[in-house]
Amino acid sequence: MNISSNKLLLAIDQLSEIGYYVWDDFVSLEDVKNLVSIANEGRLSGDFKKAGIGKQALFQLDKSIRGDFIQWIDRGSKHEIVKKFLNQIELLKDKLNETCYLGIKDFETHFAIYPENTFYKKHVDRFQQNAHRVISFVLYLNENWEDGHGGELALYPSGTIEKVQPFAGRLLLFRSELEHEVLMSYKTRYSITGWMLDKNMDLTFLP
Ligand code: OGA
Ligand code: NI
Repeated sequence: MNISSNKLLLAIDQLSEIGYYVWDDFVSLEDVKNLVSIANEGRLSGDFKKAGIGKQALFQLDKSIRGDFIQWIDRGSKHEIVKKFLNQIELLKDKLNETCYLGIKDFETHFAIYPENTFYKKHVDRFQQNAHRVISFVLYLNENWEDGHGGELALYPSGTIEKVQPFAGRLLLFRSELEHEVLMSYKTRYSITGWMLDKNMDLTFLP
């Protein structure tokens, strides 16, 4: 990613105008392949957990709401490529702060795998239990994704519906209060999902 590119300016503009931006080729196909093998490695060694809803005492598992498996990642990762991606997000965060005054302090990120025939029902990422999420981002890792594979991210900005295909290398950015949903995915669907936070992550248990 060239952080001073036109796409950055567009992203800033679109996030404030319509609440989301689709950034194609945010990472190269070579990097996508590496990230997918790291995710598969993690899945094989049992590092992925069934994703839940809510936090701490309100945490619950419910397949009728979401069917993905996740593995949290951070700068302590042993994989250079993961660190490289997190650095790019860090740069993006700084640029968004400089231009949009969003007061972003930190971010949290995980790999997500949606097995065949899973989805994530309509929701918002910023709510009482996750009050500090400001911008959501999703890097998609699916090469040769076709229409029939489903798994689009449906966004509902101001009463309309926008469907975003989970194409390899594409980064979707959207404001965390926007309603969205992952439509039924008929093929295993890989991504790295994360949130930019207006609070330091080790403090998010505070109100
Ligand atoms: C989420 C989410 C979107 C996607 O994990 O909260 O909405 O396209 N993910 O994976
Ligand atoms: Ni979400």
